Amino acid sequence: MSEQQPSDLRSARWFGPHDLTGFIHRTAIQAEGFSKFAIKDRPVVGIANSWSELVNCNIHFKMLADAVKRGVLMAGGLPLEFPTISLGESLMKPSAMQFRNLMAMDVEESIRAYPLDAIVLLGGCDKTVPAQLMGAASADVPTIMLTGGPQEPAYFRGKQLGVGTDTWKYADELRAGTITQDDFNELEASAKPTAGHCSEMGTASTMTSIVEALGMCLPGTASIPAVHARRASAAEATGRRAVEMALSGGPRPSDVLTEQAFDNAITLLMAVGGSTNAVIHLLALARRVGYELQLDRFHEISQRTPRIANVRPSGEHLIAQLFNAGGISAVLKELDPLLHAGAITVTGESLSDGYRNAPAPDGDVISTLSEPFDTSGGIAVVRGSLAPKGAVIKRSAASPELLKHRGPAVVFEDIYDLGRRIDDPDLEITEDSVLVLRNSGPTGAPGMPEWGMLPIPERLLRKGVRDIVRISDARMSGTAFGTTILHVSPEAAVGGPLAAVRDGDHILLDVQEQRLDLEVPQDEIERRLAEAVPPAPKYRRGYGKLFVDHVTQADEGCDFDFLQKLPDEEPQRLPH
Ligand code: FES
Ligand code: MG
Repeated sequence: MSEQQPSDLRSARWFGPHDLTGFIHRTAIQAEGFSKFAIKDRPVVGIANSWSELVNCNIHFKMLADAVKRGVLMAGGLPLEFPTISLGESLMKPSAMQFRNLMAMDVEESIRAYPLDAIVLLGGCDKTVPAQLMGAASADVPTIMLTGGPQEPAYFRGKQLGVGTDTWKYADELRAGTITQDDFNELEASAKPTAGHCSEMGTASTMTSIVEALGMCLPGTASIPAVHARRASAAEATGRRAVEMALSGGPRPSDVLTEQAFDNAITLLMAVGGSTNAVIHLLALARRVGYELQLDRFHEISQRTPRIANVRPSGEHLIAQLFNAGGISAVLKELDPLLHAGAITVTGESLSDGYRNAPAPDGDVISTLSEPFDTSGGIAVVRGSLAPKGAVIKRSAASPELLKHRGPAVVFEDIYDLGRRIDDPDLEITEDSVLVLRNSGPTGAPGMPEWGMLPIPERLLRKGVRDIVRISDARMSGTAFGTTILHVSPEAAVGGPLAAVRDGDHILLDVQEQRLDLEVPQDEIERRLAEAVPPAPKYRRGYGKLFVDHVTQADEGCDFDFLQKLPDEEPQRLPH
């Protein structure tokens, strides 16, 4: 891309004119203590920072933003950092997912409204990354992302922990009576030793890895630990690159986020056994650039992509070990025959230019394509009379013997019903039962919380049962596991067949055949649905109302319908 004249810069529309408006804009910057020299003929790089004391995963972002600024200044740009709302997976209620679209709107409108020539996105915790990508994609100003990196591995009684994965495991052991409350308290103090996002291939690491596969960050940066010196130097390099992007006017997100880039992202997702949440975020992101990505594309790519990363929850290691084995670049390099290697990235070069020098697979953390850890990808799509528009299962984290299963339903009306009755000694349930949770989807919950890993009844846990088939219109944490069918679409609250299931109905799951059927005659399903009374909306005002009125179903990514790119939409590049 050719260099622009300083007068071509977007920010020059604010700072260039020798009139009263230009005067007011320039005084606003000088009021912050900058000289005229700082804004004269110089690209302005906005740093969208999701730092917040409410988001432990992103708590080191002030330091990273400083390193980005250093890079911008070295390259002759003016860095201006701005806050956005931030989404912390652990603390936000009812669910960080309910606010992903709000954060995306904040990011989009901040970029659009201010005199910025290029953007550096700083995101880490689960929802911050897709929210920033979605907002930046819609604003379509040249953008590069710097992800926050995983926290250091935690240790408990000498054993390395996956923050999420092991929390679920030990919580079940506590309920099963095999560990004590004291043990569990000790785990609490050990679980999160440093800043950074979750340390296994949960949603955060999946999304940050996908950023590299999409070509939206500098190559080799996705897996660098949060507190590693190289993350700060990557931040500096990102700042330098942002200035080059500002000067050349690109690439813009719409240049990078092509169909090929999405294929590459999905291939990586499958190869690392990544989070099912990524399916939703990629469906939403694609629609921000006018690409109607379909759920079936995930299944097609999953079928042809072996799992070559041995990381939790699908494998054994943490992102720290993946980094030492060459990181996502090494995974991408091995995947080369399955990728669109020529896809353009924010470097202005191809994806393969970025991973060319990555190391070969070590055979332990990263395998070769010919000797993979699994022959197909981690996520499968099923559909049938219980999920006409599809549902997903993370088969790499499921019990192989349950991937084909027929059993009687035990239905819970919502999460409160589940909480009241799951450990009821009178609940008729065996290890062959299929647990069904409804009214937990995008509009029903609302916000589609991570309730999909339904708890196993204590009675079964004490008998040694650790997995049974579970079905819901909810999502599941990227660190969770089990034979859980998620994202059933359409959800119960908008009249999906999940609303028609009754206790004792037989449900057939056959992942190999991609089937999920309610074995009840279709006319009976329809009769029951016609009689069903939809639950009352949970919000009557404010953002919650906007959410339930406009959120799309899981198979479209749960974005707001009015945020998807319009077919005839022209980029709005003029500020006023
Ligand atoms: Fe923030 Fe897991 S809680 S990444
Ligand atoms: Mg998570």
